[in-house]
Amino acid sequence: MSNTNKKMNKVLLEKSVLIDKINGLSDKEIGEKYNINLRKIEQIITKEKGINVSNINSPKKIRKFSPKDFQLENNTVWSFKSRGNWATHNGNYRGNWSPFIPRNIILRYSKENDLVLDYFCGSGTTAVECKLLNRNFIGIDINEKAIELAKENLNFEYLFGGNVDLRVGDARNLSFLEDSSVDLICSHPPYSNIINYTYDNEHDLSHLDTEKFLNEIKKVADESYRVLKDEKFCAILIGDMRKSKFVVPLGFWTIEKYLQSGFKIKEIIIKRQHNCKTTGFWYNNSIKYNFLLLAHEYLVVFQKTDRMNSFDEEKNIADLSFSVIDDIYLESTSVWIANSSSYLDNAISNLVKRYSNNFCIYNINYNKTATLVIYLLDKKFDEFINDIQQINNNCIVAILCNDNRLVNGLVRSEPIFVEQKLRNNEYLKIKEIIILSLDTINEMGSIENLNINHKYLLIYQKVK
Ligand SMILES: C[S@@+](CC[C@H](N)C(=O)[O-])C[C@H]1O[C@@H](n2cnc3c(N)ncnc32)[C@H](O)[C@@H]1O
Repeated sequence: MSNTNKKMNKVLLEKSVLIDKINGLSDKEIGEKYNINLRKIEQIITKEKGINVSNINSPKKIRKFSPKDFQLENNTVWSFKSRGNWATHNGNYRGNWSPFIPRNIILRYSKENDLVLDYFCGSGTTAVECKLLNRNFIGIDINEKAIELAKENLNFEYLFGGNVDLRVGDARNLSFLEDSSVDLICSHPPYSNIINYTYDNEHDLSHLDTEKFLNEIKKVADESYRVLKDEKFCAILIGDMRKSKFVVPLGFWTIEKYLQSGFKIKEIIIKRQHNCKTTGFWYNNSIKYNFLLLAHEYLVVFQKTDRMNSFDEEKNIADLSFSVIDDIYLESTSVWIANSSSYLDNAISNLVKRYSNNFCIYNINYNKTATLVIYLLDKKFDEFINDIQQINNNCIVAILCNDNRLVNGLVRSEPIFVEQKLRNNEYLKIKEIIILSLDTINEMGSIENLNINHKYLLIYQKVK
């Protein structure tokens, strides 16, 4: 086919896709009709419309201004069955976050008339919540079309006495804001090359590879620290990625950048994602190719405070007992739900079923010929790293660890510490980050702190 013909075909394809979109065909139908994937459809729309939206027709009428029976979250695992469609909220802007997230953050960490900043404003979900909850708001986004959409979404009658300032700008440069002038930052970064928000805007961080993304997000973190008032909070939502059968812990690496800017961790909240299939094709593939579907993101609440992450919890590992359950349900995603009293049995049984029944618990019956070594993180971490050099190639090493609440109310995160320590280890490569989500029948968070009801299993593979 000549180049002119190829060009004509491309133009024709783009036009046809747009017409079908306007006529209301679903992405699946369009994909099948032209034999193209979702990413290609997104690309065509972003190129033509300047914005990555799933629906290019006009928005629907407002039915209600707040979610029914809303209750503030008290635990560290958040799971919203529906994304929320009050006021002008809808899932049209790809990658926008559920309004339940900014609503919870705004209510917990700010008060009326405070100034809230979202420097990755997108379609204005945080802005709409600020209008509904009577907070002043500054929203910036690199894409002028996103700012236009945010303005459209804010265009509804509501008793609101505050200010909203929406502008095109770059999150890495907040020079229009004075030092210590913002009460709360609440934002959802475009994480590295997962969804592209613009077709070819060179300042759009979603076009960057992981390393460049982390360098640039550090600049955002520095600016966040500068503009935030002392003792106030900065909440960001970030997830991991997968490269073939290994997880890329982008969430932890991003958290690290904010810590380097001076922030402390107030909460790490696990936001469950419900778009993961736990049956059929994906379930079978997760077993066949031995990987877990990513089903969580981290909503990290940082605090600008001088308090230190100092107190270290003593653990008594020797007291732990467990038993392996034979007919356990095999988990296929990165979030494993369990009962607080039986989570260890569940976790160990699942590890055994997925990886190997030739296993040992490092703290109890270490055996270097085992092909699955489970380590319940304790004070002997350095000894463990030395010992683990002797196990066989391809062995799986699973490390159970926690986020611990310190006496001063901050959080000390063991998994971030472990990942940092092992990042450049020549023998171990991180394979999965699993969240154990525990039920919380008798425990409630307080006004000050959420109740921590999750643990982590970091899965490494011995590669040398
Ligand atoms: C995950 S989306 C935010 C979605 C938003 N929370 C919502 O609900 O609509 C990330 C946004 O960051 C924007 N963005 C990318 N690079 C940026 C930059 N350097 N400065 C500001 N915004 C940027 C993208 O255009 C996109 O709208």
